[in-house]
Amino acid sequence: MKINGTPYRSVWLDADGRSIRIFDQTRLPWAVEELVLSDEEAVAHAIRSMQVRGAPLIGAVGAYGLAMALRRDPSIENLERSAAMLNETRPTAVNLKWALDRICAAVRNHPPERRAEAAYAEAAAICDDDVETNRKIGEHGLELLKEIAARKPPGEPVRVLTHCNAGWIATVDYGTALSPIYQAHDAGMDVHVWVDETRPRNQGALTAWELGSHGVPHTFVTDNAGGHLMQHGMVDIVIVGTDRVTRNGDVANKIGTYLKALAAKDNDIPFWVALPHSTLDMSVRDGLTEIPIEERSSAEVTATTGRLPKGGVGAIRVAPESSPAANPAFDVTPARLVTGLITERGRCGASEEALSALYPEKV
Ligand code: MRU
Repeated sequence: MKINGTPYRSVWLDADGRSIRIFDQTRLPWAVEELVLSDEEAVAHAIRSMQVRGAPLIGAVGAYGLAMALRRDPSIENLERSAAMLNETRPTAVNLKWALDRICAAVRNHPPERRAEAAYAEAAAICDDDVETNRKIGEHGLELLKEIAARKPPGEPVRVLTHCNAGWIATVDYGTALSPIYQAHDAGMDVHVWVDETRPRNQGALTAWELGSHGVPHTFVTDNAGGHLMQHGMVDIVIVGTDRVTRNGDVANKIGTYLKALAAKDNDIPFWVALPHSTLDMSVRDGLTEIPIEERSSAEVTATTGRLPKGGVGAIRVAPESSPAANPAFDVTPARLVTGLITERGRCGASEEALSALYPEKV
């Protein structure tokens, strides 16, 4: 996608052919700053601190981190140690493990001197795969948006509510939940997006920045506004991304997603989840008990980050100094609340039968 008219991916190889460049997402949308990551420790820090974030993007960046580790030491011991170290940075999104496993499988049978080269090639393939996958998710999601538009009075926009950021900056390009919206806008459809702020890390600001840069009409709302908007007939569809979808169709996503799904169910509003194949974890049967939910620092809750009145980016305290805080970063929406899944292979129900039919090779 474009920033000030220049096309970008969210991760790319630097001129030296070894380091990668990313946008520092702890600074977006207030400052657009590139960061160079040159070794696996820098990659691990970038993922942990959320300089890069979003399930598909942390997979792609983690893959390059493992390639960097192999350039330093191509032994199988280092491959396994570095993969474990990178995998521990964020536990909920399965895309990270998926990408690291893919690198391990691609390099293991090569002689040591060929392993780093093979890992870089595989990391590049993961990135290209993500871009094409998300483009196809957009095509299938566009069909869904067209169906909704056809049922509305002429001249009314299709009103989508989204939570967190599942846009191009959360993937290598296009995004998952936002990909259909970009395609709809580009096809001339009248679409409007309600953007949840998404405390505590304010990923909604990233979504609003993305949509604004692309000219998509949107409105930024508090996390608590969604239920009210739905009760008053102001939302036609909810579309969110996900960090892990289990065999039975349970969906892990940013904290607060479950509440949106409950409100959507109560108001008969379709609740759709967009996912690439790398987010599907058929090894997990029950999302509620088996998906590890990341618990992040309470400091993210007691303070909020943004543009300071005197300029610059920084945090201001919002909770009393003495109040403890808790910060579960994700929740699980049970399959029964999910209307359907939008994948690169088409739409399907949130159920084992439907997922097995669409992805027989994963069963
Ligand atoms: O903590 P984050 O910002 O990495 O969480 C991101 C989300 O929950 C996204 O919705 C999900 O990763 C899908 S991104 C295409």
